[in-house]
Amino acid sequence: MKKVDSRHPNFALLAVLAAAQLSHASSLSTPSSSRPRNPWTILMRRDTEKGPIPEALSIAPSQYWEGNDGPWSTFPLQVGSGAVGGLQNVRVMISTAATAIWTIASEGCPDGYVEQCPTVRGGLFLRNQSLTWVPDSIYQTGLETNLGLDSSGYVGYDVATLGWQGSGAEMTNEHSIIWNMADSNYWIGVFGMNPRPTNLTDFSSPQTSFMQSLFHSKNIPSVSYGYTAGNRYRLDGVYGSLTLGGYDGNRFIPNDVTFPFYEDISRDLSVNLHAIATSKGAPSNLLPDGSISIFIDSTVPELWLPESACAAFEEAFGIQYDDDMNRYTISSSTRQRLLTQDAGITFMIGPEVNGGETVDITLPYSAFDLQLGFPIISVNSSSRYYFPLQRAANSTQYTLGRTFLQEAYLIADYERQNFSVSQCVWEEEKVSSQKVVSIISSHLNTSSISLADGRAKVEGKDEAVSRAVIAGVAVAAVVFVALIGLMMFFFRRRNAARKRRQAELEEQEKAARRADHVIPHISHPVGGELDNDGAAVYEISARSKAHEIDSHCEIDRNKYGYSEMQGQEFIGPGKGFATEIGSTAIYELAGSDAQVPELEATRAGRQRSGRGGFI
Ligand SMILES: *[C@@H]1O[C@H](CO)[C@@H](O)[C@H](O)[C@H]1NC(C)=O
Ligand SMILES: *[C@@H]1O[C@H](CO)[C@@H](O)[C@H](O)[C@H]1NC(C)=O
Ligand SMILES: *[C@@H]1O[C@H](CO)[C@@H](O)[C@H](O)[C@H]1NC(C)=O
Ligand SMILES: *[C@@H]1O[C@H](CO)[C@@H](O)[C@H](O)[C@H]1NC(C)=O
Ligand SMILES: *[C@@H]1O[C@H](CO)[C@@H](O)[C@H](O)[C@H]1NC(C)=O
Ligand SMILES: *[C@@H]1O[C@H](CO)[C@@H](O)[C@H](O)[C@H]1NC(C)=O
Repeated sequence: MKKVDSRHPNFALLAVLAAAQLSHASSLSTPSSSRPRNPWTILMRRDTEKGPIPEALSIAPSQYWEGNDGPWSTFPLQVGSGAVGGLQNVRVMISTAATAIWTIASEGCPDGYVEQCPTVRGGLFLRNQSLTWVPDSIYQTGLETNLGLDSSGYVGYDVATLGWQGSGAEMTNEHSIIWNMADSNYWIGVFGMNPRPTNLTDFSSPQTSFMQSLFHSKNIPSVSYGYTAGNRYRLDGVYGSLTLGGYDGNRFIPNDVTFPFYEDISRDLSVNLHAIATSKGAPSNLLPDGSISIFIDSTVPELWLPESACAAFEEAFGIQYDDDMNRYTISSSTRQRLLTQDAGITFMIGPEVNGGETVDITLPYSAFDLQLGFPIISVNSSSRYYFPLQRAANSTQYTLGRTFLQEAYLIADYERQNFSVSQCVWEEEKVSSQKVVSIISSHLNTSSISLADGRAKVEGKDEAVSRAVIAGVAVAAVVFVALIGLMMFFFRRRNAARKRRQAELEEQEKAARRADHVIPHISHPVGGELDNDGAAVYEISARSKAHEIDSHCEIDRNKYGYSEMQGQEFIGPGKGFATEIGSTAIYELAGSDAQVPELEATRAGRQRSGRGGFI
């Protein structure tokens, strides 16, 4: 009996270890376990060290008022790196249409051009002084071609940080697409907020935008932003507000109206403008021919409206188009009259062509009281004001420019493919503080299984694990019970046999003792050794796959139309990039035709208006 008893601890050990093994495995799918439930969560933690879901970030403005058609609030941007020039600080305007960064090149400030040229142009980016600059070629931006404002410049890749470096409110992208431009269509650089990839035609793959890169590197919770341009006439100046991956809830009056992205992705932020009305002046209806589809685009300052609307504005405010200046210039006496009259102008916009829900955005007259600068007017001319209105030749030119975003707050969500436009708030305590709200991508929702790539599979694996564990436990329990029963049976049998044998042996022993014979040896049963340290090994193979991107674009290799500035030759500096503009083909870049995932490609019919006369 003794020898059989000695086997029992081994059975107990086996059972305990088996149970431990199972419970360890099942803890994989137990949410209450300290082990993170989802392998994706682990990756997120490692990547961001900010918790699994990053927060929206509000970018601090530069605190400058500048531009030659403003004043406008700009944002700080650092471009480049290296020992030669170090980080280069420039200031940029926010563009809701551009997909890349446009900087001003040293060629944009030729000798004797204008006093303090680099400063008044928001700072230059000297690409030859950045050790990380990867030059490519010269391209047209492909943007605002419908307004006759296409520009071109050197394109390359470099590190770019939006916001002051080290301020804690900045975002860096190591591989940003950067235009380095000389012409004066855009007096100050531009930061493109549009997350569609840029297709540079001679690349096999489209170039990921700043916003997409930030999302892929898990620095922002979604490909979305909130923006308002700010203005200098309210509260002694309220700077622009830009939030990446969310919005600043303190800057606008919320409304329930949501606009879907327009079918033409190059005019995605289009709204239906139902009416324009003024509180003072006649006629009060400033959009006599009714509803139009119009694109919200902060790249340009003006409102581009139908000619009938422009005529109504002319009549209501007594303004005249200056064909030499290509603007509605305002004389100082007219300006005084209009400022005193202080007419409010209300834009009624909605997602439907007619009817349905609408939002009213009211602009005070001050929003239209903007000033021109060099080179639109000559260096020594006295200050000139203009009314930011342009006659659109046709519907491709209808645009609500930056002027509109002085009083409107825009939230664009590129994942849900919708946006909202709200009237800004001008209460001092609200404007001076922030209420940053994150827009969370469904790609980051840990309870969602609608993920496009890696995580859905990982989650599926988790569920499979828990199902397997349950099945395993059931089977193991049955097998275990059966095994014990079987073993008991065998041991009983063996015991009985042993007893019989022992009895026999004892009999023999007695007989041997009697006969002086050697006692035979009975070996002890060997205990079953468990070859298992109880450790569960599992592999996590979560993979964060980049979004598959599909885009296209058209090349126009016949375009050489680079506008040289004031007879200056546009010659690239050394470093193997001394290409003369005249001998370099300029490719028309239709980067804005590239798509964000899930977007159907539709091409814009872009047209040139032949508008010029800048220099
Ligand atoms: C970079 O280019 C600028 C303007 O073209 C020139 O003045 C400067 O010397 C160049 N710097 C270097 C390091 O090549
Ligand atoms: C502008 O004025 C300055 C001094 O008042 C003068 O030196 C300069 O030549 C003027 N420039 C032009 C283009 O008239
Ligand atoms: C986009 O649509 C969702 C619902 O589908 C809504 O909750 C959200 O507020 C909308 N976003 C904007 C910016 O309008
Ligand atoms: C995640 O998704 C679930 C269901 O799809 C939803 O109920 C929940 O609110 C989402 N959570 C977040 C943070 O979006
Ligand atoms: C980029 O544009 C070119 C020219 O239209 C096109 O051939 C190419 O396929 C595009 N690249 C991608 C990845 O779509
Ligand atoms: C729209 O107007 C522009 C500028 O005049 C012109 O170039 C273009 O052909 C027009 N487009 C259409 C579709 O009529």
